[in-house]
Amino acid sequence: MTRHLITSAIPYINGIKHLGNLVGSQLPADLYARYLRARGHEVLFLCATDEHGTPAELAATKAGKPIEEYCAEMHAIQAEIAAGFGLSFDHFGRSSSLQNRALTQYFAGALADQGLIEEVVEQQVYSNADGRFLPDRYIEGTCPNCGFESARGDQCDNCTKQLDPVDLIDAHSTISGSTDLEMRETKHLFLRQSQLKDRLDDWISEKADWPVLTTSIARKWLHDGDGLRDRGITRDLDWGVPVKRGADDWPGMEGKVFYVWFDAPIEYIACAQEWVDAGKGDDWVRWWRTDQGADDVRYTQFMGKDNVPFHTLSFPATIMGSNEPWKLVDYIKSFNYLTYDGGQFSTSRGRGVFMDQALEILPADYWRWWLLSHAPETSDAEFTWENFQTSVNKDLADVLGNFISRITKFCRSKFGEAVPSAGEYGPAEHALIADLATRVAQYQIHMDAMEVRKSAQELRAIWSAGNEYLQAEAPWTTFKTDPEKAAVQVRLALNLIPLYAVLSAPFIPTAAASMLSAMHVETPDWPDDVPAALEGLAAGHIFEVPEVLFAKISDEDREIWAERFAGTRD
Ligand code: MF3
Ligand code: ZN
Repeated sequence: MTRHLITSAIPYINGIKHLGNLVGSQLPADLYARYLRARGHEVLFLCATDEHGTPAELAATKAGKPIEEYCAEMHAIQAEIAAGFGLSFDHFGRSSSLQNRALTQYFAGALADQGLIEEVVEQQVYSNADGRFLPDRYIEGTCPNCGFESARGDQCDNCTKQLDPVDLIDAHSTISGSTDLEMRETKHLFLRQSQLKDRLDDWISEKADWPVLTTSIARKWLHDGDGLRDRGITRDLDWGVPVKRGADDWPGMEGKVFYVWFDAPIEYIACAQEWVDAGKGDDWVRWWRTDQGADDVRYTQFMGKDNVPFHTLSFPATIMGSNEPWKLVDYIKSFNYLTYDGGQFSTSRGRGVFMDQALEILPADYWRWWLLSHAPETSDAEFTWENFQTSVNKDLADVLGNFISRITKFCRSKFGEAVPSAGEYGPAEHALIADLATRVAQYQIHMDAMEVRKSAQELRAIWSAGNEYLQAEAPWTTFKTDPEKAAVQVRLALNLIPLYAVLSAPFIPTAAASMLSAMHVETPDWPDDVPAALEGLAAGHIFEVPEVLFAKISDEDREIWAERFAGTRD
């Protein structure tokens, strides 16, 4: 038994996430956490909302609510939707927690003590009408190079020229539209990441087993251009972790906050404290301090590829730079993007399916199965309604659902709702058991390696093996001439149901639970020994024919949904 710490990139607070966000971080993390727990490991699976930053402030203003209230409400909504999807976090924390505030300030102090913080005075755009400094992306104007009217303060999206806000013609705030902008001096803290380049480089070089997607992004940032330049870790905003040096004030930094990307990953640690403070655990230090037990912990992070630089470089720089024995990540599983019907999911345009809407139209397992079996691992993946309909109808309804309903109904009609007493297995039964044992071993290899699609494929093959056995042996035909032999076939097939439930639970936990309850069994142990696991239901064991596990998606539903989600939310 190993102790596994698992974190998913923490979702931004503003707005409900779409299925592309879900499949790139929280869902595969949940798959892995559920699998490891089922294998008997001790798991701490943490996630939280990422609550600071300008987008959160603006969203609160738009909603007409104080930021604290907005965040509290959105956190509750996200927590509820996560539960609806069966995301089995041990704790779903908040980056605005007091624990994270203190820990972020603590890390800043530790980094300063190591000589890794520099105070830099810069000129930044200040909007008099908005009463605030404006980040580059909230400044727009006409591009001096190509005349494009909505060029941003940092770059023109039309001609791709890198810009400075001062270059823009008729520069204005995208928040208020005001052109009353001026350059003002402001002081910020910079983390001297460049000092840590060699250590980070060595550390990444050791990670030969990491996905290429992860290491290639990390290497690119380490070696191309100025990827690892020192970066500002403070902002002139009201909402965020107030800048302090540990518990002490930081002279000259009054009224400023840490940059959201500085405090957000620290929440992974603070979240473990929140978990303890919520009474759900009794020691967070043994998960996070290598001098106090965390050496034995295997730490895995899940995220979309846009998050990789922050997790391979910035956050490790914070940890290494502190010169304290905090746990570094052992494995980073990253994902490409999921696209939606020939384009991108778009939060602003409401294009694609969002987590709340998904649950309104179908149970979580349908989505979990499609998303995980099509996870964007080696390349981007595309969601189409046709593909979704096909997968659900074939894999879930025709293969798994049909197998279970057919065998339980047949048994009920000929032997009653109890496992028939039966004779010895013949060659077909032994062949099926041997095939399943091989496949289960292969499934474990893929799950251990977090090969999500391959795991799904193997699981589907395990379901199919049962279906094919039933098809070939046809107990309904056997029964006419040899009821004894039919009883043998039925007994084995019924025993596949608890096996399938345990193996499938990481993917489709709700259906797995229904399968077990229909068969009147408590969650069985992981089938380390497949032949033994298939002896679980003895003759006379009572069961019920379960309700329909998976309903098919009709062409009509598919068309209605395709239209509904084509754009503009609500
Ligand atoms: N909120 C970020 C996103 O959704 C992820 C933050 S992950 C953390 O892209 F490491 F910063 F916590
Ligand atoms: Zn331009």
